[in-house]
Formats: sequence, C-alpha cells, structure tokens
Amino acid sequence: MSSFDRFPLVVTIDGPAASGKSSTATAVAARLGVRHVDSGMLYRSVTAARLQAGDAPDLWTEQSVLEAARRVTLKPGETDFVPCIDGTDCGDALHGDAVTSTVSLVAKMSHVRAWVNIAVRSTAASHEVVVDGRDMGTAVFPDARLKVWLVALPVERARRRLLQRTGRAPTPAELSAETAELEARDLKDREQTQPAADAVWIDTTGISQDEQVGRIVALAEERR
Ligand code: CDP
Repeated sequence: MSSFDRFPLVVTIDGPAASGKSSTATAVAARLGVRHVDSGMLYRSVTAARLQAGDAPDLWTEQSVLEAARRVTLKPGETDFVPCIDGTDCGDALHGDAVTSTVSLVAKMSHVRAWVNIAVRSTAASHEVVVDGRDMGTAVFPDARLKVWLVALPVERARRRLLQRTGRAPTPAELSAETAELEARDLKDREQTQPAADAVWIDTTGISQDEQVGRIVALAEERR
C-alpha cells in the first residue's frame, strides 16, 4: 500500500485555452465515477457576477471583484460542482464574449486566485474529483495522484471550439479570428498556465476524444 492510499483521488487536467480540458475532465470523471470541478467556470462566474454592476472593467478594483466573488458558490450536482451566482447556475452565458474578453483580467488578481483555489480545494476534502484549469497541478493540488497537461495546436483548438459553439465546420475567416483570440488569451494567461514538473503530457492534435479520455482513465486507474 502506498502512502497515497490514505487520500481521496484527485486528478488534475491543465492546459492552454480550449485544449479540451473541460470536456475531457467531464468524461474522465464520469468513467471513474467521481465528480468534475471546472476551475475556469469559477473564474468566469466571478467575472460574470462583477460585470453585472455595468462599470468598465479597466476601473475594477480587486476588492470589488472579491465582493462579487462572495455571491458565487459551488453547488454539488450529481456528477460535478456547479458554480452559481446568487444560487443560480448561469450556464452558457459564462461562455459569452463579455465574460471571455474580461476573465483574464480577473484571473490576474492574486486574492481572487486565492479565493478560487480555496473553493476548488474544499471540494476535494469530501469527494474524489477530477479538476481542470491551468494551475490545478501546480498551485492547487501539488500532491495530486495524477496530473495531466493537455496540449494541441492553436488552429486545432480553434477549430474544435468553433465546432462546439456552432455545430458546423468553421469558415477560414472564423478559424483565423478564433485562433488569434485563443493565442491572445494564452499570452494573457501565460503566468498561471504552466505544466507541473511531474505532469503527463498528452498532445491531442492527432487523437480522438475517446482515445485521450481512455489514456487518462487508464493512468488514473493504475494509480488509484
Ligand atoms: O475553456 P477555456 O480554456 O477557454 O477557458 P476556461 O478554462 O473556461 O478559463 C477561463 C479563464 O479563466 C482563462 O482564460 C484564465 O484567465 C482563467 N483561469 C485561470 O487563470 N486559472 C485556472 N485554473 C482556470 C482558468
């Protein structure tokens, strides 16, 4: 028996924007029978809550963002933890342009990061979890049983994100605009988007979703 056996399973899945972290983490959690926690959705929820005041994001103070964060909770669902604002699940609105273009500014705020990290860690105190984000395997769960770092070429990430959003193949103009948006967000997020030294790297550019999920589940089961 290893010393790990005393602790509940935590699998972290990190990587750059639209690298497939959330869909992969959802599928891995379902296959392992544990809950999924999406840290990006917490950053998005805090941003959405703060946006409701209507003032320009460049003027936001960290204190005012933290006040908005107090309205955000993680509600345990059947298979995940759902971020809610004033008790309501905001769903797709969290992926709208207003939130996406502002979230990196909020994610730079160190007290906001500390707040998100505490919220995410608290889920693992009572449940086995698969968590995804950018720094789950470094800042939040440095002792996680399994850490995965997902990468894919920017143009492939853009193609998948557009397909997910519109349900059809993107035009070349849409593809280049989305690739530029993802690369710009990668640049803004680069400080907190780093692989853990002991992460397993999976390049998903040429493999199917099923294959990448299968690889991660197999690794998690070996270490469980
Ligand atoms: O799904 P996508 O990769 O587009 O982004 P996300 O996971 O929903 O995260 C949205 C934003 O939250 C990112 O662009 C980062 O600014 C921030 N984030 C972060 O800083 N640290 C995390 N662990 C997760 C997200």
